[in-house]
Amino acid sequence: MEPRLCVIPGDGIGQEVVPVAVQVLRTVLPEVRYERAEAGWECFRSRGVAVPPETLDAVRRCGAALFGATASPGRVVPGYRSAILTLRQQLGLYANIRPAASTAGFSPRTGVDLVVVRENTEDLYVGRETRSGDVAVAERVISATASRRIARVALRIADTRGAKKLTIVHKANVLPVTDGLFRDSVREVVAGWDGPSAGIEVEETYVDVAALRMVGAPESFDVVVTTNLFGDILSDAAAHWSGGLGVAPSLNLGDGVAIAEPVHGSAPDIAGTGAANPAAAILSVAMLLEHVWERPDLARRVTHAVGSALAGGVHPPVLSSVRDTVLHLLESSDGGTS
Ligand SMILES: NC(=O)c1ccc[n+]([C@@H]2O[C@H](COP(=O)([O-])OP(=O)(O)OC[C@H]3O[C@@H](n4cnc5c(N)ncnc54)[C@H](O)[C@@H]3O)[C@@H](O)[C@H]2O)c1
Repeated sequence: MEPRLCVIPGDGIGQEVVPVAVQVLRTVLPEVRYERAEAGWECFRSRGVAVPPETLDAVRRCGAALFGATASPGRVVPGYRSAILTLRQQLGLYANIRPAASTAGFSPRTGVDLVVVRENTEDLYVGRETRSGDVAVAERVISATASRRIARVALRIADTRGAKKLTIVHKANVLPVTDGLFRDSVREVVAGWDGPSAGIEVEETYVDVAALRMVGAPESFDVVVTTNLFGDILSDAAAHWSGGLGVAPSLNLGDGVAIAEPVHGSAPDIAGTGAANPAAAILSVAMLLEHVWERPDLARRVTHAVGSALAGGVHPPVLSSVRDTVLHLLESSDGGTS
């Protein structure tokens, strides 16, 4: 069956970088069929719903989506909930995969090549907050089922990467019940794993130490598995070593459905100026090629073309300069592999 992609540009620079990523995909995999759908803050403002039911239907139908970015109001707005959080929860996208790799000539450091595998449905992101007078409480939910599930995703990724090390990040010294459950569940899956990465080095580290290492020694990580909030923060820090949010891709993965999504937000400070780097969105499409459509060969071509474009120097206007170079490399006779 031909691959299908639901295209959801969303807000701000999502409207600019997503069309570029689609153009790249059309170049390497012309047989993809597209559906366009709406979600985000602007969608909420015009239609009263951040994720219309037909958007959920379209993503389910396609099995794969590319989401640009959502803006959020930064205050409580009755009836509004972040579009991407809604999509992740409604579609059961339980894994968030965020690679960070340095590109010579572009990234602030060489030798970084890691992936943060973040549980995507639980933790503080269940959105259960209450306030009573001057006290506000957020509920943190961790289950053995979701923890084992994310451990399996991390190990599958370790298998295909040929990883040398798995790092389990938690804070079980301070949160022995919730993070203790996470740690024990991951340990259990690791102990029973019989894939190629069975027997690789497994280490555990508290999240504060992991943060320090992510800043000081990012090359010491390979595959990192952690809970939702810790993964969110650590993966943004890791993105710095690739060259910043403009080049940081991610994939939200569930069973039979996935949403690729640049890590960045709607970037209102640069929206409409042509300064948005489309690399994160293009690399997010490469993640769909690798993890969903099982075309690691094409994923490598796209990743290589993006790396070459970045290494060659990024000039204003960034959006069109990166787009043109990547497309040129992919269309050249060697497919951008030289
Ligand atoms: N997953 C998401 O959709 C997501 C993630 C983060 C923030 N947001 C939302 O986006 C809005 C803006 O948030 P923010 O400013 O904290 O985060 P942001 O990621 O939008 O921007 C942070 C900084 O990075 C820069 N930046 C981001 N993407 C870039 C790109 N592709 N190329 C070049 N520079 C880029 C921006 O110009 C800005 O200076 C908020 O409403 C926030 O809630 C959404």
